[in-house]
Amino acid sequence: MRGETATATTVKLPPAYRLVVLDRAESSSDEAMRLAKSGAEDGTLVWVKEQTKGRGRRGRSWTDLPGNLTFSLVLRPETTPAEAAQLSLVAALGVGDGLGSVVPPMVEIRYKWPNDVLFNDRKGCGILLEAQLSGDRDLDWLVLGIGINVKSYPRDLDPPATSLHFEGAPPDLGPEAVLEAFSRHFLSWTNRWLEDGFAPIRTAWLRHAKGVGEPIEVRLPGETLEGVFKDLDPNGALRLELPGGETRSVTAGDVFFGGRSA
Ligand code: BTN
Repeated sequence: MRGETATATTVKLPPAYRLVVLDRAESSSDEAMRLAKSGAEDGTLVWVKEQTKGRGRRGRSWTDLPGNLTFSLVLRPETTPAEAAQLSLVAALGVGDGLGSVVPPMVEIRYKWPNDVLFNDRKGCGILLEAQLSGDRDLDWLVLGIGINVKSYPRDLDPPATSLHFEGAPPDLGPEAVLEAFSRHFLSWTNRWLEDGFAPIRTAWLRHAKGVGEPIEVRLPGETLEGVFKDLDPNGALRLELPGGETRSVTAGDVFFGGRSA
């Protein structure tokens, strides 16, 4: 372990999770990966109180500020890698329902495909799912990394970000309560996904998704598509109706609404 091990914590997680708390580390996902490689069990959750070099999707960085939450979870589901990719939408539901239980309704939580959570239409949570395959096709483990802006947010982002406190969450809401709420709801959604598959996840995610039925732009590596966001396909890909009427399923890309990505 390269991060600094923390002294004491008061966070209560469901027994399915084993909590590792570090006072400071470059990235909770790097720490979780190190543990996964040395055999850490499914449900090992690494909470880094001060993350100094967080990673985002597509080589971007994630800025952690005091009072925010950054953690990563080792998962070993018995699924194919393609099915496991659905866990980022399962995680969004864990974040959304978890936050719904600790913030007032004035903080509207919506999902942005593929794996952002918006607070009153601004990004306040990012989700990064990284996998290790064994052999060519089998899933060895996944690390699900989540950053939630609880107290503050970086001011220099375009499109602008936000935090739960800025949007009206109680000032005494801290990362501990958010982590507890997430863990309860994520466990329940993961069990639902394992038992019933992706269909209930798809329905719940679409109910609170931003931009369904609206014109959007999807930027893919080397290509930008414009069309109407129809829904998700049965595997979680975004279904885009192109101007000619053809529908295309997109498995990776950045979504922009009315010229902004939220
Ligand atoms: C994104 O929006 O691009 C995803 C951001 C994911 C950030 C989290 S913070 C906890 C975990 N550790 C990291 O280094 N990254 C993820």
